[in-house]
Amino acid sequence: MINAYIKGTGSYAPKNIVKNDHFESIGSSDKWIYENLGIKERRISTGETTSDLAYKAAKVALTDAGLSPTDIDLIILATATPDRLAPSCACFVQEKLKATNAVAFDISAVCSGALFATSTGVQYIKTGMYKNVLVIGADTFSNITDWSRRDAVFFGDGAGALVLSSTTEDKGFIDFILRTDGTGKEHFTIPAGGSETPTSEDSIDKGEHYFQMNGSEVYKTAIDVIPKCIYEILKKNNRTIDEVKFLLPHQPSIKILQEVARRVNLPFEKVKTNMDRYANTSGGTIPIILDETLKNNKFENGDLLLFAAVGAGWTWGTALYKW
Ligand SMILES: CC(C)(COP(=O)(O)OP(=O)(O)OC[C@H]1O[C@@H](n2cnc3c(N)ncnc32)[C@H](O)[C@@H]1OP(=O)(O)O)[C@@H](O)C(=O)NCCC(=O)NCCS
Repeated sequence: MINAYIKGTGSYAPKNIVKNDHFESIGSSDKWIYENLGIKERRISTGETTSDLAYKAAKVALTDAGLSPTDIDLIILATATPDRLAPSCACFVQEKLKATNAVAFDISAVCSGALFATSTGVQYIKTGMYKNVLVIGADTFSNITDWSRRDAVFFGDGAGALVLSSTTEDKGFIDFILRTDGTGKEHFTIPAGGSETPTSEDSIDKGEHYFQMNGSEVYKTAIDVIPKCIYEILKKNNRTIDEVKFLLPHQPSIKILQEVARRVNLPFEKVKTNMDRYANTSGGTIPIILDETLKNNKFENGDLLLFAAVGAGWTWGTALYKW
């Protein structure tokens, strides 16, 4: 049977660091941000676009995989902050990489985007349609942030990439559980710039081109749906939480991850975090944490990785991966 495994990973974030004390003038503080969110600093683009970050992460992933851009059959880019509304940001990356044999498209599931994109890439490989799929999660939320509001503290810019390749060995992605509940769409949204509210002087005056977030709804939803989804994927695959080597979650806030770990009885040492350095890079979070985890740890055949994400929509999901 054909399966998809991770052949290489890469990540990239802008060099410009913005520390928490930057937000003191807008009523926040290093203490509050670190205690509640686990964030110390974030990288903010000074001109690099989402496709620039995606391209740089992808180059590292391709080198890590020992492949050249022309070996790639498909590029799937998860982003909520594409360079333009059209064409897709994946087309920009395909051109920059000179991945001339690759089909390319975007996936929009905000903070769950990289998980949804990975699951999509895995299906193309399992059906035998493609052999090498480049999955990228990249966002520059700095472009949709109102820097005069306190919720500017949450996000940073960054990108991660993974190369999925086909294998007949007993390794790779075991399963995905993906869920969507569109009744949650108002709790994290960018109201203007689409067909419902095209950009206008009025929408700009009202700041509707910036993201709007209901933090307490994000918190309540995340700590409810993620543990349930983790239990579901473990049960469905006859696995227990003790068998999981690491949880690689998207990085909303340290308190959400601590509560998720408590609810699923996972020691917090097994939960990988990097929001202290990057904040929440949305689509970038899971591939960045994956890249760091694979490059800084040793793995043995059979080790289990668990992925989890929740994002705007609502969208959420989990994945199980066997080394
Ligand atoms: C943001 C979060 C910590 C706020 O907590 P909350 O209890 O839901 O929200 P509240 O608005 O009642 O705020 C609680 C306190 O924090 C303060 N606060 C909220 N945002 C703040 C900020 N950015 N800086 C400093 N203080 C802040 C409030 O003033 C309030 O203080 P008070 O108790 O002295 O009045 C919490 O909702 C959360 O973690 N949500 C998840 C958000 C997230 O992960 N987003 C990214 C992924 S989409």
